[in-house]
Amino acid sequence: MISSRAVVLLVFCLSSIPKSLGFVERSWAESIALANETVNLMTLDEKIGMVRGVGQFSSRCVGNISPPSRSFIVSGTNITIPPLCFNDGPAGIRLGGSNVTGFPPAINVAATFNRDLMYSRGVAIGEEFRGKGIHVYLGPAVDIMRNPKAGRAWEGFGPDPYLGGEGAYQTIMGVQSVGVSACTKHLGPYNQEHWRYGLNAEVDDRTFRELYWWPFMKSVEANVSALMCAYNEVNGTSSCHNAALIGDEGYLRTEGFQGFVVSDWGATHDTAADNANAGLDMEQPGDWILIGGGVYSGLEAAVDDGEVTEARLNQMVTRILTPWLRLGQDQGYPDINFNAQDPDGTDSLNLNVNVRTDAHTALVRQIGSASAVLLKNNRTTSDGTATGTTIRGLPLSKDIKTIAVVGQDAQQLNLDCGGGLNECNDGTMVIGWGSGSNNVEFTVPPIDAITDFAQGFATISSDITSNDLTGGPAVAEGKDLAIVFANAMSGELGFYNIVDGNEGDRNDLNLWWKGGSLIEDVAAVCNNTVVVIHSVGPVPMSSWNTHPNITAIIYAGAPGEQTGPSLVDVLWGAVNPSGRLPFSIDDDEASYGTSIVYGIDPFPVLDYTEGLFLDYRYMDSQGITPVYEFGYGLSYTTFAYSSLSIEASASSGSVSFILTNTGSFDGTEIPQLYLGFPSSAGEPDKVLRGFDNVFLASGAKETVTIDISQKEMSIWDVVSQEWVVPSGTFNVYIGASISDIRLTGSFTA
Ligand code: NOJ
Repeated sequence: MISSRAVVLLVFCLSSIPKSLGFVERSWAESIALANETVNLMTLDEKIGMVRGVGQFSSRCVGNISPPSRSFIVSGTNITIPPLCFNDGPAGIRLGGSNVTGFPPAINVAATFNRDLMYSRGVAIGEEFRGKGIHVYLGPAVDIMRNPKAGRAWEGFGPDPYLGGEGAYQTIMGVQSVGVSACTKHLGPYNQEHWRYGLNAEVDDRTFRELYWWPFMKSVEANVSALMCAYNEVNGTSSCHNAALIGDEGYLRTEGFQGFVVSDWGATHDTAADNANAGLDMEQPGDWILIGGGVYSGLEAAVDDGEVTEARLNQMVTRILTPWLRLGQDQGYPDINFNAQDPDGTDSLNLNVNVRTDAHTALVRQIGSASAVLLKNNRTTSDGTATGTTIRGLPLSKDIKTIAVVGQDAQQLNLDCGGGLNECNDGTMVIGWGSGSNNVEFTVPPIDAITDFAQGFATISSDITSNDLTGGPAVAEGKDLAIVFANAMSGELGFYNIVDGNEGDRNDLNLWWKGGSLIEDVAAVCNNTVVVIHSVGPVPMSSWNTHPNITAIIYAGAPGEQTGPSLVDVLWGAVNPSGRLPFSIDDDEASYGTSIVYGIDPFPVLDYTEGLFLDYRYMDSQGITPVYEFGYGLSYTTFAYSSLSIEASASSGSVSFILTNTGSFDGTEIPQLYLGFPSSAGEPDKVLRGFDNVFLASGAKETVTIDISQKEMSIWDVVSQEWVVPSGTFNVYIGASISDIRLTGSFTA
């Protein structure tokens, strides 16, 4: 078996090439000084051109600006500002012409619990954006999965703020390491699609800081270049006009953010002066797009009238130029070489530059297998030993001679669906729909990968054109093995993209296309049924997960274009699964304690009264045992935890323990650290505050150390407006999931 760390390092070496790109990063201070000098030389018109999008359909990118047509010489440096290209994002390039990689979305990277993979994906995405001449990557999306049906939750890292913060940090560090600006979105909180253009999220200060804000805070720590404000209102004021969020005294600037705030596309609903004075530095796409926008057409007049000071306009332009200079985008940055207005990539402006590399493909495959979560595995072997001839369960052996592949989720997806928005669930599900989708042109579906791999040792029969409840079981009956596929999908609300009646948010948690019935019907006739779920979030499983004929279940999420090969790697054991659930799976939405508001007109108020209690935090507090809990996932081997030692003070903590691979396969364990705050703190019983990914050969052991920072042991104190370490006893829980705690200790702060 190949060590996952070895592969990561290999991909890493291939990917980390900023030196050869020939640009020099500047410090923030140097960049601000250069930007200031440049802005001082600009005319009013030139400044306005810098802060206003050029119009939704007038750009070769998803967004752009009109830079000054002349160059400036400042401090001996030639400053020639190009049209700044903004593009989706976040899971690779959307609308960038052909020859791009279909990366997995963030929810699958979260399921790896692997910082190296999070970072490497960022580097690879950055390389592709740079190769197409895109200056600003519209990602990462860090919206918390407040409710499992939220349409765009898969674009982010799930319901846990710590995991989301680590994901955001690593992604940004990776993307920006190759000189591409990242733009964290959407501030927020922005947690459902229905009524998003005007709903009001009412959230208290502490909940906001500790949950929804946390990944933005980590983004600022990662020196993110830009940040996108959301469509909806927050505490009664539109996000892009919300000084409490984006103003000089607001969350963002007091955290030390030095880049610029850009509106979501059409998310400006007020006057130019309202938005500019609240802290919005750039409006995109610049014109009115049915839902809002176009307000900076009035900015020049607002400056002339004195409603917006020229000093504020200068600050806006400086904040836009600063990250561009900081990342050295003034030095040999590639020209824009595609046309976002041409989803087919056939127009002459689309050079279809090939930004795919073998290393990117290998990385996508690796993330796909590292994010596959093995939920069940009843492996029995004919001679009763762990290594004997396999008759049922995983990993599969080549002694399995007849294999049925069932379910339309196994077949190639519709590659021509929705003009760059992937607006259908037709074939295997590798990513959701909407602006967070990517080109899915090179997808390798499960049926192709399984058929290729099994050549020479097994025969494959399939029924995959629809979820046919007669045909599927008929093919499965009498086979050594049936692999049954089912999926669930969601996406972004748009004007036309209602997919099978789902307006972005999922209508319910169910599998699509009778997937649950298909699984049950196949399991009824084949006593070695392996279930593969491709989904954007939790789906009900309790009606079939304990069926004795279901020998294994893999929750593969939304794995990106190498879905088939990454699954084969796990099925036949080239990769020992180490994915862990980045959310809890339960049948009933009520177990999550939140809901999606569907049918209220006018715009609803969403009260975030659940506070800090989302997902496992809520279930824990209510004594709800989900079907599979947060952080859960099996391996082909087993691990033992021992010898916990804790060194901690009120300013930091360091927790060590010994991890041993006690099984017969090499494999990666994901030890997790949950913190129990002093009871006076009013926190959930256990909150995630650390994790690692540790590869161990069979029989090997290692001392693992997880550090906790002062902020990670703090709560937000609304009175002092500071992070405060509560005094008292902290419990430390080390385990293999939120409920599978193996070691417990404590310290006093
Ligand atoms: C709207 C989406 O909310 C945002 O995430 C995206 O970046 C823009 N459209 C541009 O496509």
